[in-house]
Amino acid sequence: MTEALNGRSVIVTGAGRGIGAAMAKAMAAAGGRLTIADIDGSTAEAVAAEIRADGGKAIAVEADVTSRAAVQAMIAAAVAAHGRLDVIFNNAGIAQTRPFLAITEEDWRRVMDVNGLGVLIGMQEAVKQFQSQGKDATGFGGRIVNTASIAGKQGYEPLAHYCASKFGVVALTQAAARAFGKDGISANCICPGVVATEMWKVIDKGFKDEGLTGRDGEAFETFSAGILLGRPSAADDLAGVAVFLASPASDYMTGQSLVVDGGMVFV
Ligand SMILES: NC(=O)c1ccc[n+]([C@@H]2O[C@H](COP(=O)([O-])OP(=O)(O)OC[C@H]3O[C@@H](n4cnc5c(N)ncnc54)[C@H](O)[C@@H]3O)[C@@H](O)[C@H]2O)c1
Repeated sequence: MTEALNGRSVIVTGAGRGIGAAMAKAMAAAGGRLTIADIDGSTAEAVAAEIRADGGKAIAVEADVTSRAAVQAMIAAAVAAHGRLDVIFNNAGIAQTRPFLAITEEDWRRVMDVNGLGVLIGMQEAVKQFQSQGKDATGFGGRIVNTASIAGKQGYEPLAHYCASKFGVVALTQAAARAFGKDGISANCICPGVVATEMWKVIDKGFKDEGLTGRDGEAFETFSAGILLGRPSAADDLAGVAVFLASPASDYMTGQSLVVDGGMVFV
């Protein structure tokens, strides 16, 4: 049987841990040739080594997604190792818990820089590479997959600037779908819910530090309480949709946001 990704060359940013690492491992197991990128090069290398130890194909690149030069070098490294670029997952992101009235200009710029500008740069540089390659015989010209969030579909009070950045990711995805469909380039995003990663530890600690909760884990439990499927998400819950969105099975889909949250937000 042909593997789902059919040898596609895939970059995942923020893939040194958490959701990015889980998606990258699943795509490598499905026959993808991976470029594991992270601002922390040592974690990226560890994930790439794990994929290679399991018989998969992966290289690691240290790259800060807010640096255009670093993103260009990341794409060049992927092309040098795998011959071309087929899919980019702009997944790197940061979160911060801050009551609405306390958000400072510096808070806003920091979150927007990584979650907004970082995604824009990743999309722009990938599209340049896709356009230089052109379309294949099936009309496929490249694929963008961005990690947005349920926070890109709904505003949550002590995460207002984070939510604004994720609504921005949805908007960038839709705009790119309209801009580059003629080139056979599609753009979609994934909207995870409450995922047990280091990021949620940061969010949870923020709730406690801001006096919004009284103990560790309380915010995570409160946000998870109403999930229809009865539990918070693990990073691996995003693996299947990542493989689908990287594979030829979704080639006719563009401009869409796939909410994978166990049943929290209906949009
Ligand atoms: N955890 C959740 O509940 C949740 C829910 C919805 C969406 N998301 C989104 O999923 C994505 C991954 O989140 P996660 O939970 O795995 O977080 P995480 O903090 O566990 O991992 C994020 C990774 O991104 C890297 N990173 C941070 N800034 C970077 C930069 N400037 N350049 C390159 N890499 C950078 C970090 O080093 C880290 O390895 C983020 O975009 C996040 O906003 C997370």
